[in-house]
Amino acid sequence: MKRLKNFTLIAVIALVGFVACQPAVQENETNDNEKKERVTMKDLKGPHALGDLPYSHDALEPYIDKQTMEIHHGKHHQAYVNNLNNAIEGTDLADKNLEEIFKNMSQHPTAVRNNGGGHWNHTLFWEIMGPNGEGKPSGDLLQAIENRFTSFESFKEEFEKAALTRFGSGWAWLIVDDNGELQVTSTPNQDNPLMDVADMEGMPILGIDVWEHAYYLKYQNKRPEYVANFWNVINWDAVANNYEKVRK
Ligand SMILES: [Fe+2]
Repeated sequence: MKRLKNFTLIAVIALVGFVACQPAVQENETNDNEKKERVTMKDLKGPHALGDLPYSHDALEPYIDKQTMEIHHGKHHQAYVNNLNNAIEGTDLADKNLEEIFKNMSQHPTAVRNNGGGHWNHTLFWEIMGPNGEGKPSGDLLQAIENRFTSFESFKEEFEKAALTRFGSGWAWLIVDDNGELQVTSTPNQDNPLMDVADMEGMPILGIDVWEHAYYLKYQNKRPEYVANFWNVINWDAVANNYEKVRK
């Protein structure tokens, strides 16, 4: 009988303990959910923001398709922006502009390098493309290209070679180096020539994204076809404007 009383007492204590624990478990779960929601909301309000495309998603058809543009700008670029904001939050990089950060890129975290580069590179990329590309620059920029590369056709060959020989994901660039000379170069991943980790440093005035996400839906593995068609969507006025800004 005494053993039965002890058992009952233990059972009651266990039940009370179990019931007492329930609110604590639920509270933790609720806190987790609230935390996730807060992080998601915060992603939309970072110091960096995704800019609008300067043209409609289908404006570069038939060379770059609407669906690729929607995903590339709305998903990939947005992800770089969100991840960049998360990476710099609460650090001394939060109030610095990206070009300042790139100067000492080798001293900063990989997440800032990948996502800061991703945000800057894509912002340039949207800007230097547009519908009704004329296929060729004019004025001072054309003169500078011809002086440096002998002819516009030779420049195109060198630029295409840089885009096609970049193994894996990356970018090919036309830059103005520290001596004011035009150069063609390429970088891996989301690096760019503004970073101190680049093989060749300078200010990009034109760039092509050769990540598969930039062309795979339309061109699959045919990167050469995508690169060849890129000339049809270059906004040379925007490139010339970039060139003028560097020279000032
Ligand atoms: Fe991209």
